[in-house]
Amino acid sequence: MPLSHVLEITELRKIYRPGTGRQVVAVDGFDLSLEAGMVIGLLGPNGAGKTTIIKCCLGLVIPSSGTIRVAGYDLWRQPVQARLRVAAVLEGSRNVYWRHSVIENLRFFANLHGYSWAAARPRAEELLERLDLADRRTALVGELSRGMQQKVAVACALVRRCPLVLLDEPTLGLDVETARELERLIIELAREQGTTVVVSSHQMDLVERICRRVAILRKGRLVVNDSVTNLLDIFAARAYRFTLENPPGIEQRQELLSRFPGVCFDDAAGAFRLEVMDAGEFYDLMEFMRQAGLRVAQIDREVPDLGEVFLQVIRGEGSFA
Ligand SMILES: Nc1ncnc2c1ncn2[C@@H]1O[C@H](COP(=O)(O)OP(=O)(O)O)[C@@H](O)[C@H]1O
Ligand SMILES: [Mg+2]
Repeated sequence: MPLSHVLEITELRKIYRPGTGRQVVAVDGFDLSLEAGMVIGLLGPNGAGKTTIIKCCLGLVIPSSGTIRVAGYDLWRQPVQARLRVAAVLEGSRNVYWRHSVIENLRFFANLHGYSWAAARPRAEELLERLDLADRRTALVGELSRGMQQKVAVACALVRRCPLVLLDEPTLGLDVETARELERLIIELAREQGTTVVVSSHQMDLVERICRRVAILRKGRLVVNDSVTNLLDIFAARAYRFTLENPPGIEQRQELLSRFPGVCFDDAAGAFRLEVMDAGEFYDLMEFMRQAGLRVAQIDREVPDLGEVFLQVIRGEGSFA
C-alpha cells in the first residue's frame, strides 16, 4: 500500500468517565497527519490532552470516536500491523520492565517488534554507549535511578526501527548531557531513517531545536498546527519595542494604555513594548506619539522564542485563539 502519511488522526475524541456520572472531555475533535521524517512537538498546558492522544495512538486508551492510522493501518481494524510500527516512551518511563535487567529489556522490545537479537544487537550496543548505560547493562531496571530508568525507556523505544516514535515528555529526569544526546538521536532518526517523531515536552528550547512543526493543544483542541519557522515569523512581525528619549507622563501613559491595550511599559529601560495587531495600529501609534511630543529614540522588532509564542497562544492572545 503506498503510504502518504505515517500517522493520520481524524476527528479524535476521548471522554473519560471517571464515575458518578462525571465526564472529562480530554480530546475534543483532534486531527493530525504526519509524513515520514517529520519531527513534531505536541505542546499544551497540563491537562490539555497530550498524553491521552499519545496513548490513543498506542492503543492503550480507547477513543470515544475518531480514527487513527499508523503507516496506513487502522489501529482498531488492523491492530497488529499498526502496533508493530509504533514505539513510545511514556510519562515516567512506565513502559519498561522493572524486574528485568537493562539488556533483557532491550532484547525483549527488539524481539517484540520482530527483530532477532543478532539483528538488533549492534543498535542496542550503540544506544547503551550513547546513553551512558553500557556499564549498567546487567542491572535490574527497578534498582536504577529515575533518570537511568528514563534512559532505558528511551533505549527500548529506539532499539526497534519503527516508522513512528512517540515520546511523552522524554527528557523528564534526564541530565542535560543525556537530553542533548537524545536530541541528536531524534534528529538522526528523522534524517537518516525517515522516522516520524512526535514529542510532547514543556522544554521549549528542545522543541525549537529539534521540531520542524508544532501542534499546540488547549483543552483537547488543536489551536495551532504550523511550522516552527512560520510561527516565529508571524509573532516576530507583531512585537515591537519602542525606546523613548523621555519617559511619558502619567496622562500620556494612561492614554497610551487606553488606545493601545497591548502596550506594556518597561520603566527601567524607558521603553514600552507593543503587540501590534496590524500595520494600521503601528501607524496610529506613531501618529499618537508625534502629537503627544513623545520622541522615539529607537524601534526594535522583538524576536520571540518558541516559549513566548507558546504562552501567547495558550493565553488566547492573537489570532490563533
Ligand atoms: N484515566 C483518566 N480518567 C479520567 N480523567 C483523565 C484520565 N486521564 C486523563 N484524564 C483527564 O483528561 C485530561 C487530559 O489529560 P492528559 O491527556 O493527561 O493531558 P496532558 O498530557 O496534556 O497533561 C485532563 O483533564 C485529565 O485530568
Ligand atoms: Mg501528559
